[in-house]
Amino acid sequence: MTSATEALLKDDFADAVVRGLSQPRKVIPARYLYDWQGSELFEAITTLPEYYPTRTETGLLDAYAHEIGRIAGTGKVVVEFGSGSSTKTPVFVEAVRAAAYVPIDISADFLRDAAAGLARLLPGLDILPVAADFTKPIALPRAARGRPMIGFFPGSTIGNLTHAAAVDLLRAFRATLGEAPWLAIGIDLRKNPRLIEAAYDDSAGVTSAFNLNLLARINRELGGDIPLDAFEHCALWNDDLGRIEMHLAATRDVRFHAAGETFSLREGETIHTENSHKYTIEEARLLARAAGWRPVRYWTDARGLFSLHLWRGGADIMEP
Ligand code: AVJ
Repeated sequence: MTSATEALLKDDFADAVVRGLSQPRKVIPARYLYDWQGSELFEAITTLPEYYPTRTETGLLDAYAHEIGRIAGTGKVVVEFGSGSSTKTPVFVEAVRAAAYVPIDISADFLRDAAAGLARLLPGLDILPVAADFTKPIALPRAARGRPMIGFFPGSTIGNLTHAAAVDLLRAFRATLGEAPWLAIGIDLRKNPRLIEAAYDDSAGVTSAFNLNLLARINRELGGDIPLDAFEHCALWNDDLGRIEMHLAATRDVRFHAAGETFSLREGETIHTENSHKYTIEEARLLARAAGWRPVRYWTDARGLFSLHLWRGGADIMEP
């Protein structure tokens, strides 16, 4: 990254922190959890016994990615939104016999690493990385434009958004993917809240470290003096909104500085750091329709923990 880009990103983080901590209900957008340390901690989360989503989705892709290729047709350009360090990509790209792979990520660093890793695994695959914010429609590289495309959005990242924002995002995907695109998307399912709470508050304390790293990041990058021992990780199931929420709760009255400002929290007050919405199959299909996609097929594991969906955009297709 150039230092000019780094400075812009730091400003963006500072703005978000100052705005979020100045509100009556304190909040910091979840995307800031993923600095280098946060991304490492998230990778560790994905292998925890309590964190079922990653291994369940990987199982679904192993079992059904070929079927996606059969239904949607092979030889398309695969466009992955928020490619991060996705280990699920090779299975998908191979199963649908991708003609080219377009990873889109806001972080040029992640993008470079992911592209390099995949190039090693699948030599001969045409990789066309795009550093961009995928929440807005994106002009794809010339080499991808006008070709049949399939979007790939695994990990239930859609769950981080409110329902309204999820619809907007899925509309932006349609705009990015050109004519009559396909989308393969992983969506975590609604289930026994105890199971969900355990997945977001593991016994080894990795999720707690992931959440608290956000405060450490503020101290590192924004000259903060937040006493980390005055905060604890909380994961709360919100049944009305169908989501698990992560908060950082003050364990005592606390005052600190960050980004040149002073903030204070009362004991018990929280900073809301993430939402992870869970959907029923019906809600997931409704979400597709609300954003102009047609649900074509879906697959779930035997325990009904996670779902993989195949949607079609644009062209009028017949359904049985
Ligand atoms: C990467 C956003 C899908 O919501 O399950 C994991 C992030 N947060 N544990 C999720 C996360 C706490 C994860 N997503």
